[in-house]
Amino acid sequence: MKVFITGGAGQVGSTVADILLARGDTVVSIDNFATGRRDNLNDQRDLTQVEGSIVDAHLIDQLFSDFKPDVVVHTAASYKDPEDWGTDALVNAVGGANIAKACKTHKVGRLIYFQTALCYGTKPVQQPIQLDHPINPVNSSYAISKTAGENYVQFSGIDWVTFRLANVIGPRNVSGPLPIFYGRLSEGKKCFVTPARRDFCFAGDLARVVVQAADGKGGGTYHFSSGKDVAIRELYDSVVRAMKLNDYPEPEVKPLGPDDAPSILLDPSRTFADFTDVTFTPLDEIARLSVERWERDGVVGGYTHLKEARADINTAAKG
Ligand SMILES: NC(=O)c1ccc[n+]([C@@H]2O[C@H](COP(=O)([O-])OP(=O)(O)OC[C@H]3O[C@@H](n4cnc5c(N)ncnc54)[C@H](O)[C@@H]3O)[C@@H](O)[C@H]2O)c1
Repeated sequence: MKVFITGGAGQVGSTVADILLARGDTVVSIDNFATGRRDNLNDQRDLTQVEGSIVDAHLIDQLFSDFKPDVVVHTAASYKDPEDWGTDALVNAVGGANIAKACKTHKVGRLIYFQTALCYGTKPVQQPIQLDHPINPVNSSYAISKTAGENYVQFSGIDWVTFRLANVIGPRNVSGPLPIFYGRLSEGKKCFVTPARRDFCFAGDLARVVVQAADGKGGGTYHFSSGKDVAIRELYDSVVRAMKLNDYPEPEVKPLGPDDAPSILLDPSRTFADFTDVTFTPLDEIARLSVERWERDGVVGGYTHLKEARADINTAAKG
């Protein structure tokens, strides 16, 4: 199978690429390395890595025309600066439109998309959230532009799957608390936690389901989530255990920011019904694998699309 992956140097894109390449599929990846790591994907025979942007419609059309993909896995996204609305709109909305249009023009068999749970807003009217919950991306430029991208996917007229995600983490995670906790603890610095609860899922577990979708399983909208959340403090404790720290700073507890949600629980029933081997790696194991990778290769990132968290990270980084 020929699979075109946008954001192939990112956490989800590279993890999906690893599985496809290991079983003999051919992969073309496009990435501009805005948040992707160059050491996530190794050069190999069946992989072509293009450095470029999905905003460049001419480049996308050329690549589709040359490669003629059977399936497109569209993971590329902009989120790292919550004030940079222009880049979010360009990459997530215009880039999403370019990918959807190219899929239609070149008669791609299936387009797979990844949506943020923040498309439901920060105050969902159901818990757990059902797939028909109203879409209300009022909280961030990221959520607004990702929703436009999802709309283009659904507008494309080709067969599509969209995974609305809980928090996806692992050794290639560059956003949110996991790399921040590791980075700060490894320098002996204090961290902060909020009372928020999150459903942390392993990127490897998601990638196995994405490959089933690439093979034609399922169709339409899914929640990729375990359906259970944990306090952010529990993630902190997992990192501390994985780093085998005996002496570490107690995290400061800060209130939730205005653009943050106390808990986002997604109902995963449809995912369990349509896919097989849907598993959820325990938090301690995710933290262990992540710490192992970062001790070897170093940690990067700690990006967040949340304004308040970003202000805190910036202040902490200076301190
Ligand atoms: N990780 C999560 O918790 C989470 C939650 C909800 C939704 N998502 C969505 O899942 C997808 C994958 O997330 P991830 O965790 O792998 O993030 P990631 O940052 O690791 O991967 C995104 C990749 O897109 C690349 N990229 C950014 N702008 C680009 C552009 N203009 N052209 C080409 N490539 C570009 C980045 O360099 C990066 O490699 C994204 O679409 C994201 O919005 C992720």
